[in-house]
Amino acid sequence: MPYICPICQTSLVKHMPSQGYYCKNNHHFDLAKEGYLNLLPAQHKKSKEPGDSRAMMRARRHFLEAGFYQPMAKTVVSMINKYKVENKTMRMLDIGCGEGYYCRQIEALYSGGNESLDLHGIDIAKNAILAAAKKQPNAHFIVASSQRMPYANNFFDLVMRVYAPSNDDEVKRITKTNGFLLLVTPGSRHLWQLKEFIYKEVKEHSIDIKLPTMFKQVESQRVRYTIKPDQEQRMALLQMTPFAWRVKSEVSNRILRANKLEIETDFILTLAKKI
Ligand SMILES: C[S@@+](CC[C@H](N)C(=O)[O-])C[C@H]1O[C@@H](n2cnc3c(N)ncnc32)[C@H](O)[C@@H]1O
Ligand SMILES: [Zn+2]
Repeated sequence: MPYICPICQTSLVKHMPSQGYYCKNNHHFDLAKEGYLNLLPAQHKKSKEPGDSRAMMRARRHFLEAGFYQPMAKTVVSMINKYKVENKTMRMLDIGCGEGYYCRQIEALYSGGNESLDLHGIDIAKNAILAAAKKQPNAHFIVASSQRMPYANNFFDLVMRVYAPSNDDEVKRITKTNGFLLLVTPGSRHLWQLKEFIYKEVKEHSIDIKLPTMFKQVESQRVRYTIKPDQEQRMALLQMTPFAWRVKSEVSNRILRANKLEIETDFILTLAKKI
């Protein structure tokens, strides 16, 4: 079984008539009508609505669905396709999956056939998981923290993380030996022209990718291109970035009014193997 109880860490077993999950100590978790499981007990919540807000989630969906990050997503899936094992189900997890854009891209572009794909997504934001589950009934979405993931040991063939927090020990624990970790992190030029509006001086930071111990890098790719979002899409992009909260309305007005704004994207894709 994929899940462990978030309270006592014993296996969770599916209860057929109700579709809910139970552990041997009788902790139980219902399946929501949209098909996701909430495995975040109230005592593990640090705030009432942890994770990204509904507004951020909607902005991200609006922007991503317009296809601006699709070249990156395609490269992610081509890396996955390259390392998949023929005739074997690939169990995959997207950590901090948000509203599920990358899970949907994987399902659409995975070359092994949908029967051989067991796709999971985890996010601490309930509104995002609800939106993800509604759009992709074949995948398994849960509300839980990446700091304490309620999955069995050595369960996944591939764990990926696109701009989201995670815990190295947990990633190591749930990934099989010879399984993969795929990280997407921002390169030094990512959203440069947007940052120029926000900061007095934009600096190119050196990119240092830290892998959990026991993971050895097998491949790295840099994906760079420019995008030309319209006014509404620029606002959505601003809202989904970490610097959104520090942008004054005068600055966002300038971004909105800028003529033919072209923005660089820059992504680093790192694939590592657990040895
Ligand atoms: C920048 S967003 C990235 C979402 C998605 N991967 C994407 O690139 O579109 C970060 C995501 O991590 C989630 N998140 C933040 N803290 C988390 C935690 N402790 N456990 C799980 N998810 C978390 C947020 O709710 C949000 O959906
Ligand atoms: Zn339990």
